[in-house]
Amino acid sequence: MRQVTQTYALRRQSLFGARPSLKVLDHVDLDVRPGEAVGLVGESGSGKTTLTRILTGSERPQSGNVLFDGFDVWSADREKRRHFRRSVQIVLQNPRSSLDPRMRVGTSLLEPLRSLQIDCDHAARVIEVLDQVGLGRNAIERYPHEFSGGQLQRIAIARALMPGPKVLIADEPVSALDVSIQAQVLNLLKDLVRNLGLSLVFIAHDLSVVAYATSRVFVMSSGKIVEVGRPLDLFTKPQAEATRNLVGAVLSVEGGLAGTALD
Ligand SMILES: Nc1ncnc2c1ncn2[C@@H]1O[C@H](COP(=O)(O)OP(=O)(O)OP(=O)(O)O)[C@@H](O)[C@H]1O
Ligand SMILES: [Mg+2]
Repeated sequence: MRQVTQTYALRRQSLFGARPSLKVLDHVDLDVRPGEAVGLVGESGSGKTTLTRILTGSERPQSGNVLFDGFDVWSADREKRRHFRRSVQIVLQNPRSSLDPRMRVGTSLLEPLRSLQIDCDHAARVIEVLDQVGLGRNAIERYPHEFSGGQLQRIAIARALMPGPKVLIADEPVSALDVSIQAQVLNLLKDLVRNLGLSLVFIAHDLSVVAYATSRVFVMSSGKIVEVGRPLDLFTKPQAEATRNLVGAVLSVEGGLAGTALD
């Protein structure tokens, strides 16, 4: 995305007053190359989730461009828009709220194929994708409550993979999980990037988690990208104040550098 700015209108303070607005994204540039895993970190409220809504095309930016495969998403024709919608998929923080508890896993997995009207051997695709996330086909007939949090996040990742995306966006995908299974889900995401040639945009509060899964990190503060760099460089010589704060948070919690970058 190029120079993306997004402003939300807020409630009027008084009956005749002007309607105040909040600039949530301010001229944001963010790019991800084919097969690359990038991270996005920033304090709560810095605009990360807003940015995902723009990246997936669910919200139109007030100004700036969302570019994909060489075209501008918001001025593209129907066919290109369809290609874009199919190619960019998202995994959310909490799989318990992102999966319908009344639906069998198999039905949940088919849902993106139905809504995007994708024609393929649906049953074969479900089995293939379950295998890619390390689950067996016996998951198909079961319901979400029969799974652990880590398994559910695998199912949520499987659902995102169903349309055969090129870009996966993961908004805090491990922060709702038990620390002991966070690494498994992070490793799965790394494997998918490597094996399927996916691009990944990985979002988190925690710089060490992002450093483990990505090779280039964007740091966001108050709606602006304040620094971009390799994870190790951000740890050892952070430039922006927001980056220094994030590094300080990691060091005070863990007492050292955790994780290694992809390359
Ligand atoms: N639809 C909306 N209308 C008005 N304000 C909004 C809307 N969505 C988000 N905001 C505001 O935009 C700012 C950025 O929110 P956003 O959810 O993008 O932050 P975030 O970086 O994802 O935070 P967190 O780390 O807590 O998830 C916040 O101040 C939020 O209150
Ligand atoms: Mg958020």
